[in-house]
This record gives sequence, structure tokens and C-alpha cells, in this order.
Amino acid sequence: MNDPGLHERAVEAATFLRAAIGDPPKVAVVLGSGLGVLADRMTDATVIPYAQIPHFPRATVPGHLGNFLVGSLGGARIAALQGRFHYYEGHDLEAVTFPVRVLKVFGARTLVLTAATGGIHPDFRPGDLVCLSDHLNLIGENPLRGPNDDRLGVRFPDMTRVYSPELREVAKHEANRLGLGLREGVYACLPGPSYETPAEIRMLRALGADVVGMSTVPEAIVARHSGLDVLAFALVTNAAAGITGATITHEEVIEAGRGAGQRLGTLIEAIVAMSF
Ligand code: HPA
Repeated sequence: MNDPGLHERAVEAATFLRAAIGDPPKVAVVLGSGLGVLADRMTDATVIPYAQIPHFPRATVPGHLGNFLVGSLGGARIAALQGRFHYYEGHDLEAVTFPVRVLKVFGARTLVLTAATGGIHPDFRPGDLVCLSDHLNLIGENPLRGPNDDRLGVRFPDMTRVYSPELREVAKHEANRLGLGLREGVYACLPGPSYETPAEIRMLRALGADVVGMSTVPEAIVARHSGLDVLAFALVTNAAAGITGATITHEEVIEAGRGAGQRLGTLIEAIVAMSF
């Protein structure tokens, strides 16, 4: 028998989730590096290890969190993806974005993406929260490359408003109300896993990037192809290469994510309570 296609695999995974969870939550949140603390704020959570979900990619890092959670946050029922798949791990972009396909078929309407990033904008400091206004896909690939399955989305999806202007307004309003600083900016996505050189950061600044990271954009492209509304937050965990002259370590990125993750959790909790 031929291998099942992408749509069939997504349907099989979503059917499994429906049997395990019941009705789908309207909103799903992808938790980036060090931002897993949001999961601790959820109540009555059902935890499903990725390894149990048909066709989900396998984590390449042993012991890395890989859980699909459904529970309550701020009074709203949400799904949370604790652990994501990165291009730099060796996954192809179809695998990286498979969870987004599954969420759409399962019945989610809105995807909230979070990520640790290096700050490029001269005013951005470690700990700052940034609501993405747009992105630069500099991975050198597109997750939609290959034959298009019209059941999943159109061949040439529009990318004029990847990050929902309406949801960004809600985010701004809630951040103001809570006294949480929230910046806006453009995310440049590079393949990694090496951090950038100072010359690459100067190039990204010239291209209009405010933050840089190694995730988020393939998921956002596939979410828009699928017709999901997207909201994305970058946490600035470090000054990008060459901005201060300091070197960058994964440990500082994770530590900064933990510190500011609580503030991002507060904001996301308020947004889902307001909107869903
Ligand atoms: N560059 C790329 N990805 C990142 C960074 C960075 O400086 N910090 C956290 N993720």
C-alpha cells in the first residue's frame, strides 16, 4: 500500500485526538524554548505524549518535552503544544509543521505561537515581549513546496496579513490593561542551529528585522495556508550577535525564557479569556 498522504495522516492524528479528548478547543498555543511554564497555569489538563499521536514526528533530543495538552487557561479551554520540532534538528518542514495541520483538522481556529529570539532592534532588551507584525522567511525553503493538496489550502496563499491585525489589537489592549510592556516587530527566521554572526545581524537589521529566531515562520505559513488565525509572540532572550559584543549561549536563552515566561503566560491567559 502507498504511504498515506499528508491530509490522510493529519486526519488520522486528529481522529485519535478526538477520541482521546472530545471536542477540539478553538485556540492552540505552541510553547517555545523555556516558555513551557504556561503549561503550569493550565488546570484540568489532559496530557497526551506526542509519541502516542499517530504520525507525529519523533523528538530528536532524548528527554525533551513532547506533550499535547488540553485544559483550561483563564477560563478558556485551550490546547498547548509543549515542545516543538525544529528544522535545525534535521526534520523537514512538513514534519516541523505537521502539528499545525493536525490542529486545523482537529478543529482549532486560532494558533498562538511563542518563541525565544535575539533582539536586533536597538531599543529591544532581554526580557522584552514582542508581538510579531510580520516576518522574513530566510530559511531558504518553504513548507508548502511540492504538490498542493487543495483540501489543505490553496496553491498560492496570500501572506499580506499573516499575523491577525484583530488579534494583535486585542494583545495590545490586554498588555496595556495589565501594565505589561508589549513591543511590535518583524521576525527573521534563519535555519540555525548556529547563532548568527555580527555581520549577519547587520544584514538582518538592514532588511527590516527586529528579532531573529529559528522557528515560528514555517508554522505561521502553514497555519495561514490552512486558514487558521495566527498571533505570535517573541520573547527577547538575548541581544543578537554583535549588538553588545557578548557571546550567546543556549543556557542564557532558556534562563531568560523562564524569567519572562510568566509575563507572557499572564498576557496569553488574558487574551484567551477575552477572545475565545
Ligand atoms: N538567534 C537566533 N535564535 C535565537 C536567538 C538568537 O540570538 N536567541 C534565541 N533564539
